Amino acid sequence: MYEQVSHALLNDILDEFDHRITRQDLRHFYTRLGANFYAIHSLFYHLYGHREDFRQQTIQLTERLARAYIERPAALKQIDMAREEDHNWFLSQEWVGMALYSDGFAGNLQGLTQRLPYLQELGVNLVHVMPILRCPLGASDGGYAVSDFRDIDPRAGNVEDVVTLAEAMRKRGMLLTLDVVVNHTSNEHEWAQRARAGDAEYQKFYYTFPNRDVPDMFEETLPEIFPETAPGNFTWDEAMERWVMTVFNSYQWDLNYSNPAVFIEMLDIILFWANQGADVVRLDAVAFLWKKIGTTSQNEREAHLILQLMKDCCQVVAPGVLFIAEAIVAPSEIIKYFGEDAIIAKECEIAYNATFMALLWDAVATRNAKLLNQGVRNLPSKLDRATWLNYLRCHDDIGLGFDDADIRACDYDPYSHRRFLVDWFTGVFAGSPGRGRPFGVNPRTGDARISGALASLAGLETALESGDTESIDRSVNLILTLHGMILAFGGIPLIWYGDELGTLNDNSFLDDVNKAGDNRWIHRPRIDWNRAERRREPGTVEQRLFNGLKRLIAVRKSTPAFADFNNRELLDVPNPHLFAFLRTHPTMQTDSVLVVANFDLQPQYLDLKDLGNRGLFRFGQVKDLATGESPALLNTRLVIPPLRFYWLTDQRPGAVL
Ligand code: GLC
Ligand code: GLC
Repeated sequence: MYEQVSHALLNDILDEFDHRITRQDLRHFYTRLGANFYAIHSLFYHLYGHREDFRQQTIQLTERLARAYIERPAALKQIDMAREEDHNWFLSQEWVGMALYSDGFAGNLQGLTQRLPYLQELGVNLVHVMPILRCPLGASDGGYAVSDFRDIDPRAGNVEDVVTLAEAMRKRGMLLTLDVVVNHTSNEHEWAQRARAGDAEYQKFYYTFPNRDVPDMFEETLPEIFPETAPGNFTWDEAMERWVMTVFNSYQWDLNYSNPAVFIEMLDIILFWANQGADVVRLDAVAFLWKKIGTTSQNEREAHLILQLMKDCCQVVAPGVLFIAEAIVAPSEIIKYFGEDAIIAKECEIAYNATFMALLWDAVATRNAKLLNQGVRNLPSKLDRATWLNYLRCHDDIGLGFDDADIRACDYDPYSHRRFLVDWFTGVFAGSPGRGRPFGVNPRTGDARISGALASLAGLETALESGDTESIDRSVNLILTLHGMILAFGGIPLIWYGDELGTLNDNSFLDDVNKAGDNRWIHRPRIDWNRAERRREPGTVEQRLFNGLKRLIAVRKSTPAFADFNNRELLDVPNPHLFAFLRTHPTMQTDSVLVVANFDLQPQYLDLKDLGNRGLFRFGQVKDLATGESPALLNTRLVIPPLRFYWLTDQRPGAVL
């Protein structure tokens, strides 16, 4: 594609705008459109250039951008400009996130607005509000089956409530993250309804087929996401008399991005929520956006082009808005959702660090950090201006998506090791205190994932039942240690609501027909606010966890070495129970932090001499930022108690790590 072609087209489009769009001050819009148009045009051409209506579609796309820009509130435009000036703003250590269901956390959106002080008390300043858009009344995959992308589920509130929430958060310096479920709609969405009524235009919004010929070809290579509850990837629709592609549940119809109308509609929806005040948009299931016969239809190149195009368009209208990629795929694939061969993110600025999450759980079960070290060593380095979302639990199951080669490098067999992990966390393995449930078990492939609340997976439920204080202490320490890792690793930590209080499994989902078949609901709690009050009673589990976490969050925020500037170095330590890494301050070496965790039930030793000739802690004066205490050193040997961790700095004046 020649730049001239794109320039000429842009001139034509702008001429037309002069006739049709009569609003003042499009100056910034024009600047940004000019800067991004070549990329937008090239990507759009790559995807849709073969179509006769390509030119009309391009004009349509550009016009939607202009309209979204005109509708963008002045206050948000100012934020855009401030963030353009300070483009590394989201890499700061000051951001700490929590993901929550507004109903489980606070009843509805108004309740959530009232509970913001609780989040602030903890130190959370980024909130991912789980899906709140209109969805079927019955099963809706926790809101991930959307029936109307521009309306709020009446059970949660209305659009006005979102705007109020966004404004209240902005006043408190908090960021709002909302979902846009880009891969599919519910079968109750208007597009699906029209398709079912026989409207051919809307049938083209989805993948529909009159018979099994094409579906059968797809099935040869498509995996199953929910093998127990939604086997296969196609559903027969009686009204339409056609098969429709439904990769997730049968009521979630996959959108067909080979149709530019789908792209334009979904982009418009992203911009709509950006204009309602979302600072961050979480793009759901992005790995699945492009389907191709003969492949798994995940991580296809076109899926990346679609995301790049979405980013470039968003850059024109709402450059202050960030994208999160939810792509729970292999480590080497996840990294591509930042965009390849770039410095700044060309697709999503933020991606779920599913690899680190699963590796931490591996360390919990094995009580050693062998695979954790191996996996983190092989985690591809990310772009400079992109960051991880580091988490322990979320609304989904834990998938054991490590690299098989890494598992083998630790002398485990991939199949039996994964089997062991599922057995461990579901309490099948003798001696395990885990209380999780197997999820997504596929007898055909042997795959299985894990559901369960963090506290129940970490042994707290079993410990509380036994009343054994030592076991309770152990679980509390483990829960804080795991959080100590995601807070220090580099990236934005994302706490799952309830974990700050040690919330246990909730089995009430079994009484609801719309949830009973999906045990991910076991870890999507309703917060018991009476119990939350115990965070003020010294010695309770709630208080130890809440206060412990609150302190760690405060320390993180005041520790510049924890900002994410690719300033992490994994340390090779001979003791397999330890996970150790160094966070260097971007400019002040003296303020570097040594992070070390012991996953074993016995105290373990780290010989500071083993850390190489860095002049580390030469005079034996170390301070743990996490507790404010100075841990004991036996000569150069540091003792790390069972299931504990340190964030160590050297106290010597002018010390260099
Ligand atoms: C995402 C969500 C998950 C949902 C799926 C289908 O992966 O995290 O909860 O089931 O997409 O929307
Ligand atoms: C798979 C998908 C992920 C989804 C999850 C739901 O792991 O890759 O997107 O959230 O299943 O269980």
